[in-house]
Amino acid sequence: MRAAANARGGIMTHIEHRKDTLHVESVAVEAIAEAVGTPCYVYSHARLVENVRRFEAAFAAVDHLTCYSVKANPNLAIVAAVTREGLGCDVVSSGELERALRAGARPERIVFSGAGKTDDEIDAALHHGIRMLNAESRGELERIDRVATRRGVRAPVSVRINPDVDAKTHRYVTTGLRENKFGIDADEALDVYTWAHTRPGLAITGVDCHIGSNIRSLEPFAEAMRRMRTFIETVRGRGIPIDHCDIGGGLGIPYDRSPLPSIEDYARTVVDALDPAGSGVQLLLEPGRILVGDIGMLVCRVLYVKRHGERTFVIVDGAMNDFMRPCLYEAHHEIVPVTRRGADAVVVDVVGPVCETTDFFALDRAIELPHRGDRLAVLDAGAYGFGLASNFNSRPRAPEVLVRNGDYTVVRARESFEDLVRGERIPDFLT
Ligand code: LLP
Repeated sequence: MRAAANARGGIMTHIEHRKDTLHVESVAVEAIAEAVGTPCYVYSHARLVENVRRFEAAFAAVDHLTCYSVKANPNLAIVAAVTREGLGCDVVSSGELERALRAGARPERIVFSGAGKTDDEIDAALHHGIRMLNAESRGELERIDRVATRRGVRAPVSVRINPDVDAKTHRYVTTGLRENKFGIDADEALDVYTWAHTRPGLAITGVDCHIGSNIRSLEPFAEAMRRMRTFIETVRGRGIPIDHCDIGGGLGIPYDRSPLPSIEDYARTVVDALDPAGSGVQLLLEPGRILVGDIGMLVCRVLYVKRHGERTFVIVDGAMNDFMRPCLYEAHHEIVPVTRRGADAVVVDVVGPVCETTDFFALDRAIELPHRGDRLAVLDAGAYGFGLASNFNSRPRAPEVLVRNGDYTVVRARESFEDLVRGERIPDFLT
């Protein structure tokens, strides 16, 4: 079991207080924030590489291909770091496909998922010769067939099966239940395979599933894998060869520091239940959060400390537009002072300046009471942090910084006012 993010079985965390100041690797977060301003995202390259290597080591014994789920953190530098470790990419739009290619991913290591691919996206995927498309409906398969036939090729496809397994995660990130929009029911899928097998534009050789995200126990994975194994046998029984099984992503991280299954436990569970070698399939994996979630933080500055009746509000310069997870999923993220004062903990709400009651990073949280100008770090913001950011309230999006080897690089600049209004115009009749 992984006890906590800062006790990762002898693995370095690379993000810790040294004396009283927070460091990413050997760089003081204060120094980065001073130079680039706040709010800003700061990531550790060493932690990222360590996560990737640990994941790869856990699956080393089986024939597998890991495709990093680009949506978790789409920054080109992050995708490049991951592909440099030999991983492929899981993409869900032509934008992500472009990112993956630009960051150096090899097309034969790219899979294209998502419930609503356009003809242009299908065409782009075929043009680049990616490993396969994960189709989520018969309608989508029909379009892929048509686009591929027009190109004179056979599109490599898998069908996403909805295994009807409860991943026991937040209802907004559950995907493997029959009531969710994702995939095709296993019963129905058999007919779809039989039909797809006859289509000239389709080479249907795989099965796919993804049961949800931030999953905190292993049993849902085991159950889904058992169902996929049975399904593979049934499809093969119809004379359709299946050579790979894509199991998606979904493993959670200990945001609140409570123990969670480790990557190694996850690998063991999946491999035992699916038995890829015995089933004669290559295992495809699409991890996102587990690789990038704990690599970094959002650093903010305290603007005001305000008391309202019983409550104390710490108003920071970062907001829900910069980091949506708390407001969208009521997600817990640890918040620590960048420089500790050694003051007593006080129960506060950490909120941003946006005009919404949902604009909070933490409610009723005991932290040492900061002063105006102090910096706070919202931890474990590497996954679904910047990627979900918006310009709401006309706030420029925050910069992203990657630390490596005692130095750091701004891997995405802070947006300017010109960035905010790019593409907008006041029509002649209003001037
Ligand atoms: N594969 C597919 C088909 C997916 O839809 C996803 C995530 C992944 C892989 C990667 O899942 P992961 O290993 O990161 O759990 N914004 C939410 C998470 C949404 C996940 C969407 N799909 C959050 O911040 O918790």
